[in-house]
Amino acid sequence: MLVRLLYASRATAPLDPSVQEAILEQSRARNPKSGITGILCFSEHVFIQVLEGGRDEVCELYNTIARDDRHENVRILSFEEIRERRFGSWTMGQVNLAKVNASLLLKYGEHAELNPFTTSGQATMSLLDELMTTALVVGRSG
Ligand SMILES: Cc1cc2nc3c(=O)[nH]c(=O)nc-3n(C[C@H](O)[C@H](O)[C@H](O)COP(=O)(O)O)c2cc1C
Repeated sequence: MLVRLLYASRATAPLDPSVQEAILEQSRARNPKSGITGILCFSEHVFIQVLEGGRDEVCELYNTIARDDRHENVRILSFEEIRERRFGSWTMGQVNLAKVNASLLLKYGEHAELNPFTTSGQATMSLLDELMTTALVVGRSG
């Protein structure tokens, strides 16, 4: 049974590229073994991640990630059973939210700035769906 989980969190320290790289390296090394796919979006202070895969695998990974001290205020925005993956081509795609243009942010939010903690999970998911159609998601694996 496939599920999709969306969460947001706050970085415990302003994110520098070495931290982002370390997380993506861990993700890309480990996720294929457990059949996890998804994308990780980051800004200087915020992470938004989608995890897709088997229910056990997604829940286990989420529990591990939630304990990671590189972030805090980890909040589940949505969790659903799915018939098919949307992010199947990414062992962990990567999006720099600073590069997302203002009109796309305004389409789904009140301001041209993404605040997943005050936006509905559905709106954040719609924004990520639309991002998938742009070249902003990098790290395609298949
Ligand atoms: C925002 C964020 C996203 C992460 N995403 C993943 C991921 O998709 N897959 C993964 O294996 N680890 C991910 N990690 C790293 C895990 O929290 C953990 O450090 C890693 O799985 C190694 O766990 P271990 O020390 O038990 O081996 C993420 C960490 C953070 C802070």
